[in-house]
Parts: sequence; structure tokens; C-alpha cells
Amino acid sequence: MSEMDRRALARRQFLSGAGLAAAGAAAGAAVGASAVAVEAKPGTGGSGPALVSYPGARLANVRDLKINAPVDVAYPDPDALGILVKLGRPVPGGVGPDGDIVAFSSLCPHRGYPLRYEPSDRTLTCLGHYSRFDCEKAGQQIWGHATQNLPQYRLRVDEAGDIYAESVDELLYGRVSNVL
Ligand code: FES
Repeated sequence: MSEMDRRALARRQFLSGAGLAAAGAAAGAAVGASAVAVEAKPGTGGSGPALVSYPGARLANVRDLKINAPVDVAYPDPDALGILVKLGRPVPGGVGPDGDIVAFSSLCPHRGYPLRYEPSDRTLTCLGHYSRFDCEKAGQQIWGHATQNLPQYRLRVDEAGDIYAESVDELLYGRVSNVL
């Protein structure tokens, strides 16, 4: 079986749920906590299996953030680069006292080029082929070659103001499924 056939088969299995179950069991064996599928992001048309909860990870504290000044993060593993940003006004998926803190993968869903944050319109732009994603609209793609919205982290803020990532709602670039 060719590499292309293997990838197509893996994707079909993932979409049918069979791959998710098998991969989730593997993740549990590797890190002691299995990924769990949860509901899709409202209003994006996404399907359930794409939104997967990972072991939670602390990203920063609300005191570390300044409005419109993103910080680099990685979740759910060091190769999965992302950004955490306080937008200054409430947005979908926003957490914290102002409901304005969001985080996204910073790898373009098209071919994995890095994304650059543009403070003037709060978008992320791909440095490869220039796809653009709106941070104020849950990572919705607004231009370009990519064929999915940007993966957004589901975040939680505890009483001390620590910000934790707990899931990702779209398939991360380069992964055949959203599991560790
Ligand atoms: S890698 Fe981003 S649009 Fe192609």
C-alpha cells in the first residue's frame, strides 16, 4: 500500500470513528490519558470527531498578556505551535475576565507554513500562500487556499488567573487525527 493510500485509509477510519477509538487507546497508553471527542464548535459546521480534549496544559497567566500582543505557545505537544492573545473585546471562545483571551494553532492548515499575527485587524496570515484567519471569529478562514478554519484551543482560566488549554477544535496540520 502506498503512503498516499495509507493516509487516505487513516483519514477514512478517523472520520468513521474507528481510527479515533484506536488512536485514543494508543494515546492513553503513551501518556496515561486518552483523548476524548467532544462537541463541534458552534456555528462552524464542524463535526464532532474533530474536537478532541487532550490533557490540560498551562499556557500562561492572564497577567502575562497585553491587549493585541500575542505570545507563542505550544499545545498539545511541543511540535504543535500556537499563539495566545488577548483581543480586548469579547469574542467566541474567549475566556478570562473580559472574555477576550483566545488561542489558535499557528501552523496553516493548508501546508503548515507559519502564521503571522496582524494587530490592525486581529487576523493571522500565512507566510506561505497568504491564507488569512479571523481571530475574532473563532479562527474562521477569510481568504486563501486553506480548506478548513484555524484550530482554536478550548481554554479555561482558574481562580489564580492561570490559563489552561484543554482541547483543539479542528485538525492540526500534519496530523491524521487529533490525538497525541
Ligand atoms: S501553507 Fe498557508 S495557504 Fe498554503
